[in-house]
Amino acid sequence: MDKYIIDGGAKLYGIVEMQSAKNTVLPLLAASVLTDEQVKIRGIPTIVDVENMFRILSELGCQIKRRKDCAIIDSSNAVSHEIPPRLTRELRSSVFMLGSVLTRFGRARLSYPGGCDIGLRPIDLHLSGLRRLGVEIIEEGGYIECKVNHLIGADIMLDFPSVGATENIILAAVKAQGLTVIRNAAKEPEIIDLQNFLNAMGAKVRGAGGGTIVIEGVKRLRGVDYLPIGDRIEAGTYLIAAATCGGEIETKGVRAENIAALLHKLRENGCKIHTKNDRIILKSDGRLQSVPLVETMPFPGFPTDLQAQYGALCATAKGTTLIVENLFETRYKYAAELKRMGADVTIRDRTAVIRGVEKLHGAKVVAGDLRGGAALVIAALRAEGQSEVIDLSHVDRGYADFEYKLKKLGAKVRRVRI
Ligand code: UD1
Repeated sequence: MDKYIIDGGAKLYGIVEMQSAKNTVLPLLAASVLTDEQVKIRGIPTIVDVENMFRILSELGCQIKRRKDCAIIDSSNAVSHEIPPRLTRELRSSVFMLGSVLTRFGRARLSYPGGCDIGLRPIDLHLSGLRRLGVEIIEEGGYIECKVNHLIGADIMLDFPSVGATENIILAAVKAQGLTVIRNAAKEPEIIDLQNFLNAMGAKVRGAGGGTIVIEGVKRLRGVDYLPIGDRIEAGTYLIAAATCGGEIETKGVRAENIAALLHKLRENGCKIHTKNDRIILKSDGRLQSVPLVETMPFPGFPTDLQAQYGALCATAKGTTLIVENLFETRYKYAAELKRMGADVTIRDRTAVIRGVEKLHGAKVVAGDLRGGAALVIAALRAEGQSEVIDLSHVDRGYADFEYKLKKLGAKVRRVRI
């Protein structure tokens, strides 16, 4: 197990370049089995979730060549429709494989998926969408068995705009017979990227980014060479870190409109922000004013994946912030750890009340999930004295070169094996 030792107090300055978005790369890798031709994806981040997805593809029989940050996936010899249970447990996005494996083999077998322990995370919307496309699904003994002779297009209404369910249904519908319409679809930028990727392969998907997505099934898909969008959650994490610690940083690779909800709050907090194309420049004096309320929402609302990091910011802002987490019910595990550093946080159900204190102090804290781990790193960077952030296994699932990039910005952080 690894930990970070962080000496807090440094302001952050410099330019930081974003990796391709984890939440795009994962569904794109799932989509790579939709063609017999080679799929090249660029800008692959070196994170554990992506490595696990590669292992799943290998076990299905795909050949993967890696060169620098490019991956070439050749699934012409893929034979298996079974996603190995030990990998499913580690990676919730393995559930996206259902749609594409069904398209490829007419069958799929998956054990119930894992991922961050941040709530119940059911997959009922994925399964009911697939059923609408004609898939027969049996859930038994912790496994999901899916079978279909011909996927047939359908009109699907999602009860909630789930990102994963929207993506899974798109992946099952691209080669289905006829037209599929997804209503109340998720609008996240990663869905637009999946649409662009699939259309570059010859699919006919339109409407992503809006609430209704229309997919016209095609007979075959070809290979593709693709650079996914930059990671807006990664960019948001560095921007929050600089806002909290003070300094001036520029993120490269993410367009402002993809994290507009965060930038709006950071401006209200008192940060100066300039944006141009895929660059965001933030200046902060490190003594922020709190905003009264932040509620997580599906895109374009405030992202749940930045709630914890923003919570760390609120811990030293002047005044009280109410955070309401509407997406995942147990996403406040970081709060108890923040308290060890002197934060004043009260949690009641889905609401956190954070009263800003002038100073945090260094402490030993444990990272319980991916974004909560990033939040603790931000708090440790702001705190007086030395902190230890223990167990980096979650942080490694989503942040490539985290300590390297932070060090480049002037943070005093080192990684140590325990
Ligand atoms: C994706 C992101 C994750 C992000 C989340 C919300 C990936 C790989 N992960 O996760 O980082 O935090 O979007 O922006 O892209 N739900 C159901 N039934 C379902 C599916 C979802 O009730 O079948 C509920 C969930 O419990 C949750 C909400 O819908 O409350 C949002 O989940 P969803 O949008 O599906 O998130 P993920 O796709 O898992």
